[in-house]
Amino acid sequence: MEPLISVTPPGPRAREILSRDRGVVSQSMVREYPLVIEKAGGMNLWDVDGNRYLDFTAGISVMNVGWNHPRVVAAITGQVPKLSHGAFLDFCSEVPVRFAEKLVQFLPPSLNRVYFSNSGAESVEAALKLARYATKRKYFISFYGGFHGRTYGAMSLTAAKVIQRKHFGPFLPVIHAPYPNPFRPLGFSPPTCDLEVIQYIEEEIFKLEVSPEEVAAVVVEPIQGEGGYVVPPARFLGRLRELCNEHGILLIVDEVQSGCYRTGKFLASVHSGIIPDITCLAKAIGGGLPLGITVSSDEIMQWPPGSHASTFGGNNAACAAGLAVLELMEEPGFPGHVEAMGNYLLSKLGWLRERHEIIGDVRGIGLMDAIELVRDRKSREPAVRERNAVLRAAFEQGLTLLPAGESVIRFCPPLVIQKQDIDTGIGILDQVLEAL
Ligand SMILES: Cc1ncc(COP(=O)(O)O)c(C=O)c1O
Repeated sequence: MEPLISVTPPGPRAREILSRDRGVVSQSMVREYPLVIEKAGGMNLWDVDGNRYLDFTAGISVMNVGWNHPRVVAAITGQVPKLSHGAFLDFCSEVPVRFAEKLVQFLPPSLNRVYFSNSGAESVEAALKLARYATKRKYFISFYGGFHGRTYGAMSLTAAKVIQRKHFGPFLPVIHAPYPNPFRPLGFSPPTCDLEVIQYIEEEIFKLEVSPEEVAAVVVEPIQGEGGYVVPPARFLGRLRELCNEHGILLIVDEVQSGCYRTGKFLASVHSGIIPDITCLAKAIGGGLPLGITVSSDEIMQWPPGSHASTFGGNNAACAAGLAVLELMEEPGFPGHVEAMGNYLLSKLGWLRERHEIIGDVRGIGLMDAIELVRDRKSREPAVRERNAVLRAAFEQGLTLLPAGESVIRFCPPLVIQKQDIDTGIGILDQVLEAL
């Protein structure tokens, strides 16, 4: 379906609501461009003035099965009249149990204990507490460019933008290591930056800052999300796994953005052939309802009743939505479709790069893809203003996109995207870049 912009956005209704938004809602909300959504379905959003947009955001990688999938909607509307809040912290009900039983079928066999919360940050918070509980160690290692959420533990791990930390300290004891970024290798050399990062942890962090025996966990995104859809060299996670094994450190893989088949595998870490000790899921797993999940082995998740919990964790409506999401994802051909569409999108982004000098890099796995805009390809100076202008112009032409990192545009459309949607979106982007 071609996008249909009948009123240049923001139209009168959108302007009126945005003005009320500015009057009453916390200013900490981000408004990438003046979109006011009224409804959504499949690959499309409609604003309050009747414009239709082709969506390449999936609401930050949440609507992986498409916006308002009828089976997810039916699962929610079927469950709510029976039991929405089931007080799962204190009383058992079947839907969350059924969800957990189904979820573990998508995971490596050792990831077999499920903790329920309500967001990505909470799922990370649970992972941190569990790692400390299991190891009796205090410290954590995470990475520059990493984003793990905005609660205190998750924020302490996060080092993606200073605005997310400014005036909020002090933080948990977290030491940040460089992330192997082949396009911006921070003094390392692109083909070996992953090995050099491991060496940095061993030679600098473990010798100068913290003894490995005091480190509870290393926390890592398999592909950095908010940091700019940075894909590390393929062996990186394997080397990190070995490092953790050597020192009895737990490996926590944050799959909040990369999980749920975003990269063509249910967990992105599977591409590296490793099994994390603890993994975190949220975003897409709830099909649009708040659902955070922390999973580990039975051996690691040994904490007594009441040691960690949340009032809404295991919410029946959210778990019913999650079950519907998993049922859709287990249909034959679902991962294959993501892989095929991902390859098609990447080839189209490569074509755009040949046409537009401003695109310095194209990268991604599956449908977690990005272009990085640069002032010139040699210096790789980030084209921040230009990136923001592209996002705005694409929106005005009916294509919704999201930024990441400093000058990156990310492509995380619903995984049900079709070739013609990709062609339409790339066509709009090509025009926008041409006019830049
Ligand atoms: C990798 C990662 N972890 C954690 C989070 C935090 O999730 P939430 O915003 O649901 O707290 C995000 C959110 O973007 C994320 O991308």
